[in-house]
Amino acid sequence: MTRPAILVARPVFPQVIELLRQHFEVDHHAGDNGLPPAELIARLQGKVGALTTGSERIDAALLDACPQLRIVANMAVGFNNFDVPAMSARRVLGTNTPDVLTETTADFGFALLMATARRVTESEHFLRAGLWTQWRYDMFAGAEVHGSTLGILGMGRIGQGIARRGAHGFGMKVIYHNRSRLSPELEAGCGARYVDKAELLAQADHLVLVLPYSASSHHAIGAAEIAQMKPTATLINIARGGIVDDAALAVALRERRIAAAGLDVFEGEPTVHPDLLTVPNVVLTPHIASATVATRLAMARLAADNLVSYLTRGQALTPVNPQALAP
Ligand code: GLV
Repeated sequence: MTRPAILVARPVFPQVIELLRQHFEVDHHAGDNGLPPAELIARLQGKVGALTTGSERIDAALLDACPQLRIVANMAVGFNNFDVPAMSARRVLGTNTPDVLTETTADFGFALLMATARRVTESEHFLRAGLWTQWRYDMFAGAEVHGSTLGILGMGRIGQGIARRGAHGFGMKVIYHNRSRLSPELEAGCGARYVDKAELLAQADHLVLVLPYSASSHHAIGAAEIAQMKPTATLINIARGGIVDDAALAVALRERRIAAAGLDVFEGEPTVHPDLLTVPNVVLTPHIASATVATRLAMARLAADNLVSYLTRGQALTPVNPQALAP
């Protein structure tokens, strides 16, 4: 009996490929660069499933060109690379990897916040450049973290994890804004107080963005929002590129309208706005918030389990559009 064919569109752990090979004919794109759209379509011919990483766009044009496709399993919790209505209309299921990355990503939110507020990378560059013979009393003096006000925009599982770390670990006053307010129990559990967006921007010493990307969150932080922040504030984006207007942010950092930013995600990544590469008061990382060995393995396994479960038993574990399967 011929086995169903799937595409793994990015390199993943060998043991996950092995697991998939027990069930499927696996075409594995093991190159470090993503497949351009036309090549992705070509490689998807005859495939019923795909394992993607969030950088492969699954839109109507691709779906129409790949009519055999039944499931796309993202190895990411975010799925803004999916055109969900287009997938549902064609009864293509999408899945993501919630929960397995929550705490790891919250850890990284804090790592970036600390590195940004305490100017870790800027000072490392100084040391590596052999400049340490110079010294000043205010050398790399950054912003206080403990006891300061932590603002969180977007309060899903990762936002709550960051809130808990701030409130319980660093004695921070935590405020948040979200489309919907948490229950009083959840607010108490993570020590966070709901405020409107204007108060969040005005009060936060450190503002962490953890909201999903959508048309309504596009440029949620632009020049107008940055102007409402404290000039001493730091801005941390571990959410998605496009939520911050990167060009406006680069101007604000250069003009010191805010003190610093820490960015793990970028508009148009892997390309980074050139002005962000030249301002000193920004910490830049290449979308690694969930990157621990254990978590990346758990994400890959969950994506693979979704493919196996759906293509062999008709049930996905973490579907994002279960409506695609409605009779
Ligand atoms: C990473 O950005 C993810 O969505 O998992």
